[in-house]
Amino acid sequence: MPIYTVGLESSCDETGVGVIENGSKILSNKIYSQSQIHEKYGGVVPEIASRNHLKKFGPLLGEALSEANLNLQDIDLIGATYGPGLVGPLLVGLSLGKSLAYSLELPFYGVNHLEAHVFAHFASGAVSPPFLALLVSGGHTSLVLVQRWGKYRRLGETRDDAVGEAFDKVGHMTGIGYPAGPKIDEISKKGNATSFDFPRPMIDSGLDFSFAGLKSAVSREVEKDGNYNLPDLLASFQEAAVDTLTEKAIRAAREEEVDHISVMGGVSANSRLREKLGAAATEYGLTTSFPPLDLCTDNGAMIGITAAYKHLNQEKPSPLELGPDPSLNLG
Ligand code: KG4
Ligand code: ZN
Repeated sequence: MPIYTVGLESSCDETGVGVIENGSKILSNKIYSQSQIHEKYGGVVPEIASRNHLKKFGPLLGEALSEANLNLQDIDLIGATYGPGLVGPLLVGLSLGKSLAYSLELPFYGVNHLEAHVFAHFASGAVSPPFLALLVSGGHTSLVLVQRWGKYRRLGETRDDAVGEAFDKVGHMTGIGYPAGPKIDEISKKGNATSFDFPRPMIDSGLDFSFAGLKSAVSREVEKDGNYNLPDLLASFQEAAVDTLTEKAIRAAREEEVDHISVMGGVSANSRLREKLGAAATEYGLTTSFPPLDLCTDNGAMIGITAAYKHLNQEKPSPLELGPDPSLNLG
């Protein structure tokens, strides 16, 4: 008999419901992005995000089950993100997950959102530990050694802004809207990345990151001259951010003597990062992988895959008293 898992994601502004068969086969992965709702505020407004999760989870769960050709009664276990993220949004998905598990008498697994980004690679079967995970999203920038599935060592992380946050803030100051990552990626293709000499803080040593100085340098340029060339400015910013990520990821892989770097989180969709990190890795005899785009950004399938993995490995389900942990980390 196959085992079916429902995974629920609501750590930020994406409502996600995924249905997984037997641990890694994705039967459906429904995502509702609220980014247009938050665009006019220049960032996610937690209270509005919570209310929209509340509105959207019901219909999305129905759609995800019907696409998977299943009923709630067919489901064997439930997983939901319990951190890190915004406390209100986390509470909505977590409460729904626990209520479903309680009423259907199913095991419930609280899932670490960062671990789920790592597990987005598990579904493909193309990556096996040990490998280096570069986790780049709106809330996180970390280098993590994946020693085996479920066992991690944190090697480095940002000391200030997350890289996705820097993309979104640069988007806000240049008025291109939220979320700015995909827009900067697109507009930069028309720009010259050497036009502005932006700093690459902390690039020369260590495995920690810092993006606040880069963001401030872009802000100074924007304030100095209203007539700046937008594609050139964005391309130069993107290049500085990508250079730092590339340099540190290669350094970490070589120090830890692993030959594979896998990139996860929303910023892993960035085309310049894919190109530049891919080329640098080849130069050092390393390989890279990026999950398919719909698994790169926040989604319910990665939550379901992580919960199913824990269940199939006989890990104990989470207690139903489990609360949200906004600052949960990995490793
Ligand atoms: O993983 P994710 O969906 O949510 C978080 O957990 O944060 O990542 C969202 C972040 C946003 O900051 C967004 O601007 C960024 O990923 N992003 C990108 C691209 N696509 C999304 N950043 C750079 N280039 C992209 N193509
Ligand atoms: Zn994420």
